[in-house]
Amino acid sequence: MSDKSKMFLKDLKNEFSLNTHQAHEMIHNFHKEMEMGLAGEKSSLKMLPSFICPPKGTEKGIFLAIDLGGTNLRVLAVKLLGDGVIETVGVSRFAISNEVMTGTNDMFFDFIVGCIKTFFDENHITQNKYSLGFTFSFPVIQSSIDRGVLISWTKGFSVSGVEGRDVVGLLNHALIRNKMESIHISAILNDTVGTLAAGSYMDPLCHMGVILGTGTNACYSEKIKNIKKLDNLICSDEMIINMEWGGFDRLERNIYDETVDKNSQNPGEQRLEKMVSGMYLGEIAKTVIIHMIENGYILSRGLQSMFEEPYNLTTEQLSHLSSGVDIFKKSGIHIAEKDREIIREIACIVSKRSARIAATAIAAVVQWIDPHLHNHHHIAIDGSLFEKYSGYKENMQSMLEEIFGDLAKKITLKLTHDGSGIGAAVVSAIEAHKRS
Ligand code: BGC
Repeated sequence: MSDKSKMFLKDLKNEFSLNTHQAHEMIHNFHKEMEMGLAGEKSSLKMLPSFICPPKGTEKGIFLAIDLGGTNLRVLAVKLLGDGVIETVGVSRFAISNEVMTGTNDMFFDFIVGCIKTFFDENHITQNKYSLGFTFSFPVIQSSIDRGVLISWTKGFSVSGVEGRDVVGLLNHALIRNKMESIHISAILNDTVGTLAAGSYMDPLCHMGVILGTGTNACYSEKIKNIKKLDNLICSDEMIINMEWGGFDRLERNIYDETVDKNSQNPGEQRLEKMVSGMYLGEIAKTVIIHMIENGYILSRGLQSMFEEPYNLTTEQLSHLSSGVDIFKKSGIHIAEKDREIIREIACIVSKRSARIAATAIAAVVQWIDPHLHNHHHIAIDGSLFEKYSGYKENMQSMLEEIFGDLAKKITLKLTHDGSGIGAAVVSAIEAHKRS
């Protein structure tokens, strides 16, 4: 690698760094935004009440769930055995096409109902009266557990006629339209809430759910008295709050972040998400690579043409690049050894910052719940970035150690696979329990 390239990468590391001092500052600002969000004041953290209290682990029965996240929709049937044990009875996965993601609301909700029908066929379920939990991984304002108005789409979705409307109502209409009205939607919830519900059903030390996948977000269990904006009468001590932390906007951005934001579907919004989540990491890395090609630091031909289409460098490919795998060979593009080394560095720099921001945000929430870390905290985490990106979890852990020193041992980052869907069934069970 030339000296010029080495210098460039050194500067790049600085531009993508989050040192311990900055992390403490971020935690301070996070707390301020949390407080304002909970009070109903203008804040980049929406702090949305979910109307769901944490499960007890004793709920029982078979429940259905739909999990609509980023690129996939899953339909599940889940059996809760009542002693913290969960069994998945059936699960079907469906890819969401670009046409559905950007089409009309009728098309979108008919697609969801179609998936439920296919799931019934595949699992030989004859239609019966079922309670269904609906995990809908977008910012929604709830006025009850089964009513949620979409604030705005994120992660590249732009289905028309849904923003500002009750998503449960729209799904109910589609169920009626398709003669499936025997299904009762008992709850709408965010994927983080599902992840936490699944995590805490199995583990009483779990008070926080995090998604680190296509998008990113977190939720935690908050004392009712701290949720100042809540005016409904609630007869429980705690409620899960969907933070929508992807919107946190008090982070310093560099020119690459600004370029990705400017070219995105929602400029100016979801600033933390655009620095952390899987959907955007590839885009950031590509923006750096293209800059280096244009300035003559990377010389291998053919690379630029591979990156012409937006959002075509996936988290999985980026993770391979971080580990030094040559993903370009398959497409017949020869990349010189020294250029591959540069690209590997870029992939590491971009993902390391993502992990450090995510860990700092977790630290902020843990410190909010338990300022002196008297207790142990298990964090239920789902998402491909956390699960599959090589070195990601380790980078998060070392950031937690920088922030908390030895006390970081009290925080356990736990992969809660498929939690968002399973959790919807758990929430459905909590509701059924309340009604019985
Ligand atoms: C959405 C959140 C969601 C997160 C993870 C974000 O884009 O706004 O509601 O929890 O993605 O899926």
